[in-house]
Amino acid sequence: MSTLKRMVVTGREGQVVLSLLERGAKDGRFEVIALGRPELDLSAPETIEAALQKARPDLIVSAAAYTAVDQAEGDEEAATVINGVAAGKIAEAAAALGVPVIHISTDYVFDGSKAAPYVENDPVAPIGAYGRSKLAGENAVMAATPNHAILRTAWVYSPFGKNFLKTMLKLAETRDSLNVVDD
Ligand SMILES: NC(=O)c1ccc[n+]([C@@H]2O[C@H](COP(=O)([O-])OP(=O)(O)OC[C@H]3O[C@@H](n4cnc5c(N)ncnc54)[C@H](OP(=O)(O)O)[C@@H]3O)[C@@H](O)[C@H]2O)c1
Repeated sequence: MSTLKRMVVTGREGQVVLSLLERGAKDGRFEVIALGRPELDLSAPETIEAALQKARPDLIVSAAAYTAVDQAEGDEEAATVINGVAAGKIAEAAAALGVPVIHISTDYVFDGSKAAPYVENDPVAPIGAYGRSKLAGENAVMAATPNHAILRTAWVYSPFGKNFLKTMLKLAETRDSLNVVDD
């Protein structure tokens, strides 16, 4: 009988899910399974419970999200369904299955005015739609199950997809100097 733990990660082509698939293949302790659209569609939260039940996870990593920060300003309702409501449904499904959920969140839940590094119990005060939607997700996860960990990260870098580091490396190939917003 296999002793491999089944780690179900939400999304298919996102940076975190692809990184965990790559790492899982090398690590050998986890069978990493990507679960995304159409079976699990965060914009249709009613798809979540059945998709997760079918996937039989030992652990859920809730990595998929509406990550287009600027676009969310004009699309807050959709961002809130995906990052807020659906995140809660994933955690509710984890509770029903009796498994833990690791939920990926963001430093955008803070307003950025603190001059020192943020700590876990600093007051949250998102200043944009994306941050508000991610905070709604954190609250929904906390309400759904005590068996959770919420990771607030400021950046995700990986060899996959788009990220700031890859953009800068690409620009550095063709330019001698760069102007980058410092906010
Ligand atoms: N990127 C950053 O710098 C950053 C910084 C702080 C926090 N985070 C957080 O870290 C987590 C992972 O980010 P990432 O950079 O890996 O994201 P990403 O590369 O932008 O990928 C987003 C993922 O979400 C999935 N997704 C989007 N809408 C969906 C829907 N309606 N139904 C199902 N899946 C959907 C995408 O699915 P497909 O694979 O089908 O396209 C993709 O797998 C997110 O929770 C994000 O909020 C990211």
